Amino acid sequence: MVGAYQSSELTPLFVFDANERDTLTREAAGIRSILADSPSAASAVMLGGGYFTPLTGFMNKTDALSVAESMRTGDGLFWPVPVLNRIAENPRVDSGDRFAILDPEVDGNPLLAVQTVEAVEELTEDECQFIAQKVFGTNDEEHPGVQTFLNQGRFIISGDIQVLNYSYFETEFPETYKTAYQIRDEIKQRGWNKVVAFQTRNPMHRAHEELCKIALERTESDGVVIHMLLGKLKPGDIPAKVRDDSIRKMVELYFPENTVIISGYGFDMLYAGPREAVLHAIFRQNLGAAYMIVGRDHAGVGDYYGAFDAQEIFRSDVPAGILEIEIFEADHTAWSNKLNQVVMMREAPNHQKEDFVLLSGTRVREMLSAGEDLPPEFSRPEVAKILMDYYQTV
Ligand code: ADX
Repeated sequence: MVGAYQSSELTPLFVFDANERDTLTREAAGIRSILADSPSAASAVMLGGGYFTPLTGFMNKTDALSVAESMRTGDGLFWPVPVLNRIAENPRVDSGDRFAILDPEVDGNPLLAVQTVEAVEELTEDECQFIAQKVFGTNDEEHPGVQTFLNQGRFIISGDIQVLNYSYFETEFPETYKTAYQIRDEIKQRGWNKVVAFQTRNPMHRAHEELCKIALERTESDGVVIHMLLGKLKPGDIPAKVRDDSIRKMVELYFPENTVIISGYGFDMLYAGPREAVLHAIFRQNLGAAYMIVGRDHAGVGDYYGAFDAQEIFRSDVPAGILEIEIFEADHTAWSNKLNQVVMMREAPNHQKEDFVLLSGTRVREMLSAGEDLPPEFSRPEVAKILMDYYQTV
């Protein structure tokens, strides 16, 4: 199996030892507590699960600006997106203080993690705009990731954290939520060595299914890790529960047994296109994948990125040898009426656009909302039914 990212081993920041957990919980009851915002809490969950190895906590301003500018922390670690604990009001904690991070996503705001303060710094408007421009490639507040980023608090608290649970991800998705170390264990238990990871924030239609099958075969992998986002999405995207159900149905009916690990991770969607693709590759290496599929408009939204920018960044901006995981580059994939199968377009000679069954996300939503069946060339009927049932309730 591939090694952890830039580390001899995975470094989950979850506290495994029961005594240590008790001590921390008692300590947390007697120290300052700060309610995190949703993106910061999700970052804590990612740090806890080992996905953000080798980070040991939240970044400071120097690291955030440097990561935004050149994808390097102050210490030179290659990293594509700032990982920040942000709050609106000056928390008035000092370097060396410890405080409890409370979970904004769970009723009663329980304890999520304990952080040791390195520094409290304020991001200026210019610095926020700079980071947005570099990370998202735009300052446009219509971009859902930019909007979230610019609306987060301006104070950042850097420093190491110890994580005590996995928030609502482990309670709402007990079968699907998995940490990086749990997936590594599962790969080993299945006797697999080489796996290919598939990032997704959508229900899986036939193009997604076929991409996984093609990648499995061509990379000669032992299995596919379908790794779905379980965190927050922009309005209109399909809730994780519905996606999870439809993915499970698709795997049950259309994949050979023991070829797929269905899993999910607790992070909010950034819609940062190429930069997010690099982050995705880092955390798929951490879960043990030798390959990650990057297809058309990976982690994209609207027209902010070119269809294959998320593949290009691995050639143009990721230094050779930094990542052990390799990218499986997929071309636009769709059903061909000429070949009667789902194909990558570059592998379908003598085709015109009309020869493919192509439906935009908007069109799919319109059809489902109107109670119109999706064509079986686009979506497996059992998957389409789950989506249709959901759309009839919204
Ligand atoms: S994403 O935001 O998580 O990237 P989605 O779940 O739709 O969105 O896509 C998951 C992966 O499949 C991404 O790598 C994406 O590029 C790829 N993909 C989705 N649809 C297609 C398609 N029709 N052709 C090629 N690649 C695709």
